[in-house]
Amino acid sequence: MSEPARAREAASTLQLCRIMGPNDANIVGNVHGGIILKMIEEAGCIVSTRHCNTQNGDRCVAALVRVEKTEFLSPVFIGEVTHVTAEITYTSKHSLEVQVHVMAENILTGAKKLANKAALWYVPFSLQNVEKIMDVPPIKYAAAEQEEEGKKRYEAQKLERMETKARTEEVVPPLPDPEDHPKERHTVGFSQSSLIHLVGPSDCTLHDYVQGGVTMKLMDEVAGIVAARHCSTNIVTASVDAINFHRKIKKGCVVTVTGRLTFVSNKSMEIEVFVDAASLVEAEKKKYRAVSAFFTFISLDKYNRAQTVPPIKFDGEEELRRAEEGEARYLQRKEKRLAERERQSAAAQS
Ligand code: COA
Repeated sequence: MSEPARAREAASTLQLCRIMGPNDANIVGNVHGGIILKMIEEAGCIVSTRHCNTQNGDRCVAALVRVEKTEFLSPVFIGEVTHVTAEITYTSKHSLEVQVHVMAENILTGAKKLANKAALWYVPFSLQNVEKIMDVPPIKYAAAEQEEEGKKRYEAQKLERMETKARTEEVVPPLPDPEDHPKERHTVGFSQSSLIHLVGPSDCTLHDYVQGGVTMKLMDEVAGIVAARHCSTNIVTASVDAINFHRKIKKGCVVTVTGRLTFVSNKSMEIEVFVDAASLVEAEKKKYRAVSAFFTFISLDKYNRAQTVPPIKFDGEEELRRAEEGEARYLQRKEKRLAERERQSAAAQS
């Protein structure tokens, strides 16, 4: 085997582990979904950047361009150790798929549980010229079926993101100012929240562009504030729908991350989160939408069990229309979850 090929094989998996501390969790000790998302992204970024640099040519950094829908399968608590395993599972000409597993270990009892599974896509950018997308060295597949399955996932996401790209690029009217809304509890305006953040060096990759995990963490934070304001209880992230990162965000930009409730079911809340960016220093200060996504949160009682969520008091046709769309997404997610569970139990029996 040649030296680059050997390096590539060694570089295609990675494991990170870290003990969860009070900084990672909310007041009752649940680790924030955003912390897990950030760790997942860090592992994905390391494994894909390392892999893409096992060839001659420009040095490069892999940037997150997409996260497939991900579910938080079990809660993680302060004192537990998270083991994040990332593996490159597919390469196209310019992109890589990384699958990540997060196991949470109780180091007192040795018990381990699967906390999250995610699939991320990265694209390598040249360090010399950030506009230049580099070719990705191909990985070796253990079997032809693995490559075929990967290609199917690649084609499916490509199709899906063409639609969301058109939607993201629409000129989106500014979100209503929550100050203009009646501050009646359980209205959309009551819980709508924004967070403004100046992108500094610690948020960025070697390119001086925001690391995808940092954006996901901010998005989860805002969605969590919206959920907690709506139901005034402890809340946790249950899942995040697929996110496409269509636009870069440069150091020195101000990002405004806004979350608003779109739909509540009996025990869950769907929150739409927008990330808008604008340069603070450059002449071109036009605000643009960098990314948007739907988060699902659950309200927890004092025994950490899911509990009923107050219904939304709607104000106007627009909010009702968004709720109808939210309900359709909710039903679709539920259907997919059930199908997946059935598939897993059939696989376990065979
Ligand atoms: N998900 C998965 N793959 C994606 C993707 C997405 N959302 N967007 C682009 N790609 C892949 C394409 O499939 C293509 O690979 P292929 O040739 O092997 O099929 C490669 O990226 C280039 O795509 P292309 O169509 O040429 O470029 P584009 O006009 O779609 O722009 C980026 C792609 C990556 C340059 C642009 O979307 C971008 O800059 N995104 C921001 C990345 C970032 O900063 N991430 C951190 C966010 S905080």
